[in-house]
Amino acid sequence: MAERVPTVPITIDGVEMEATAGETVLQCARRHGVDIPSLCFLEGLSPVGGCRLCVVEVAEDLRLRPACATTVTSDMEVTTQSSRLRSYRRSILELLFAEGNHVCAVCVSNGACELQDVAVRCGMDHVRYELQAPRRRVDASHPRYVFDPNRCILCTRCVRVCDEIEGAHVWDVAHRGHGAELVTDLHRPWGESTSCTWCGKCVASCPTGALSHQGSSVGEMRHTPDMIAWLVAARRREWTEREARR
Ligand code: FES
Repeated sequence: MAERVPTVPITIDGVEMEATAGETVLQCARRHGVDIPSLCFLEGLSPVGGCRLCVVEVAEDLRLRPACATTVTSDMEVTTQSSRLRSYRRSILELLFAEGNHVCAVCVSNGACELQDVAVRCGMDHVRYELQAPRRRVDASHPRYVFDPNRCILCTRCVRVCDEIEGAHVWDVAHRGHGAELVTDLHRPWGESTSCTWCGKCVASCPTGALSHQGSSVGEMRHTPDMIAWLVAARRREWTEREARR
């Protein structure tokens, strides 16, 4: 008989619901159809709480919490929509757009970009900050893929998927603050990487046009981030079946 998973009561936006013990506020909210924007979170990977787009308010706590990295507790009262949250999310998005070169009209991911989608959903229609317009070198040395750091938002999905799922750890974040950048094989061109297995999971997970397939033109790139959760579930099923056969 399947083991019953313990649940805890929780209130999200005034609606009482049951959360599975151990799950995050984001997972519980999404399971119940509550929309919380996110960028760095990807089902199947460990949460890092880096982009801060999923911030929510929890009862009387003045601090905002990242829903993707906050585990539910019994009787937790969560607010996902307020003018304060909307203003923070807009500011975060504007900073992301100002920091890189996110000119959608000439991007391979135009029309299928999570950053673009979330900006529309959060009502971000202009940027109040000075555009940094960096000129970072595009790495097209890999025979199959291209990395455009100008479109990278440092969500680290590629770093985590390569490390946690593929086990190759090709990607990493070098430097700090404004100088932080993604690198392959300790800063060698991607095409010279000896650890890359060409699996493409980093490209599939990318939320923007930073990672794409060679030859993709404007608006042609389609990422498949949902594939990662599917792979993780399949692997878990395989382990469970193997354990049962022992
Ligand atoms: S999605 Fe939660 S911090 Fe990025």
